[in-house]
Amino acid sequence: MNEDIKEKLWSIVERKTLESPHLIEIKRGTLINPSLLFPEKKIFLELGPGWGEVAIELAIKNENVGYILVEKKINRVKHIIKNINKNNLKNIKIIVLNFNWIFEDIFTTECFYEILLNFPDPWPKLRHRKHRTFNVEFTHNILKLLTTNGRFRFATDHGGYARSVLRFLRKEKFSQMKDFHFALNRPELPVSYFETIKIKEKSKLYYIEFYKK
Ligand SMILES: C[S@@+](CC[C@H](N)C(=O)[O-])C[C@H]1O[C@@H](n2cnc3c(N)ncnc32)[C@H](O)[C@@H]1O
Repeated sequence: MNEDIKEKLWSIVERKTLESPHLIEIKRGTLINPSLLFPEKKIFLELGPGWGEVAIELAIKNENVGYILVEKKINRVKHIIKNINKNNLKNIKIIVLNFNWIFEDIFTTECFYEILLNFPDPWPKLRHRKHRTFNVEFTHNILKLLTTNGRFRFATDHGGYARSVLRFLRKEKFSQMKDFHFALNRPELPVSYFETIKIKEKSKLYYIEFYKK
């Protein structure tokens, strides 16, 4: 990315939009080390959690796991904070950020045992596909962030998005990737808000996951 654009994005990102002890502040030149935020815990990252119901349910069940959520929409972040307080959770923190802007410059490497991306925008039009989050560069970033044997999970209701991901996962030789799987259901994770709507509409859902070597 052009340095001027990066500079502009950083100045937007560093603006404080909300104050809460549940937020992680990001600063240029300082990588977030998740294991300092949650000592002695395995750490789970959710990108675009929306209203946060998946992470809240997981955090209630798994006190030994730390959850970091990255969400750009303030109203959704406020809603998640309300639920963190309501459930008195000590193991969730949120970063207010557009992860398509700066993602590779935020965390120390090999810090998450699991990363979840549920129903990102599908950008269905051909000319907009370049905006899709899950692409080759993003996959390299994810592989840097996962610990050995760590898992990345993705869900979409857009068949074209799922097929294009499977195509590049087959084609690209990701030396750090162990294997990847595709399924039409994923019973072992809580169902997200968007997923519930799509299940009610009887939409076909696509789940893809891969592991780091
Ligand atoms: C379709 S919603 C899905 C929400 C939730 N994962 C679910 O399954 O119900 C996509 C969410 O990702 C967030 N999001 C999309 N792109 C993002 C980005 N680049 N950075 C941060 N959040 C993003 C949106 O604000 C929204 O909350």
